[in-house]
Amino acid sequence: MSERSGLRRLNALISAVMMALFLIHAIGNVLQMSGVGVPLPMALSWTLVGMSCVHAAIGVVLTVDTLRAQRRAGVAYWRQNVRFWVVRASGLALALLICAHALIFVKPAGEFLRLPAFLKPQLVLSLLLVLALAVHVLANVEPLLVSLGVGPTRERAADLMLALAVMLVLMAIGFILYYLRWSVV
Ligand code: HEM
Ligand code: HEM
Repeated sequence: MSERSGLRRLNALISAVMMALFLIHAIGNVLQMSGVGVPLPMALSWTLVGMSCVHAAIGVVLTVDTLRAQRRAGVAYWRQNVRFWVVRASGLALALLICAHALIFVKPAGEFLRLPAFLKPQLVLSLLLVLALAVHVLANVEPLLVSLGVGPTRERAADLMLALAVMLVLMAIGFILYYLRWSVV
């Protein structure tokens, strides 16, 4: 049991670092897509991908563990636990959408703008990525504060969720503006 709580704590620390790297990556790149920023080091993006893989693997172990414990106890709280499944479903969606996102941007740069071509399919995949991140990250703010031992959490979680929601809207706007720039070249 304590070995699992160690894993949960490790995952909380990894998640907190991922949140910081994700915000630097996303805000820096929204500026770049708007034509006012400078490229960020690729190593930052790939560190984020590497950490996502470790985070997802730990997530699978914890999920299997929870389901086993519930079966042993003969209870199935998960049926009522919407957040548990929302986090798992959005995590799975993220795994796929992050792959698509990396494939969109590792292509050779376009002729007119430094970054690769960004047309309707790329826009749709990018907006789905923002949506999956919004669901996953907003549903996880409170559990993360609890895991990190920050308390009392309710009010802090609400403030953080509002700040993150504003940033996620800016990310969506960043992709839309970039799409519009491509549609006029
Ligand atoms: C919704 C928020 C995000 C935005 C606005 C965004 C934007 C961008 C942009 C504009 C690039 C091209 C950068 C360049 O070539 O200079 C890029 C590349 C990349 N992104 Fe994201 N990204 C987001 C989320 C993520 C997440 C969550 C991950 C991984 C967990 C990720 C992984 C990558 C990778 C691997 C690359 C290719 C390597 C690179 O060019 O740096 N991105 N992203
Ligand atoms: C690769 C795709 C991903 C999958 C499969 C995934 C899956 C999961 C799962 C299963 C959990 C619950 C773990 C538990 O029971 O304690 C979780 C928590 C979390 N995830 Fe993800 N995730 C992914 C990507 C991301 C990304 C890109 C971010 C941030 C930008 C993120 C942020 C978080 C946070 C903050 C938590 C809460 C951690 C805690 O409560 O201690 N995840 N994720």
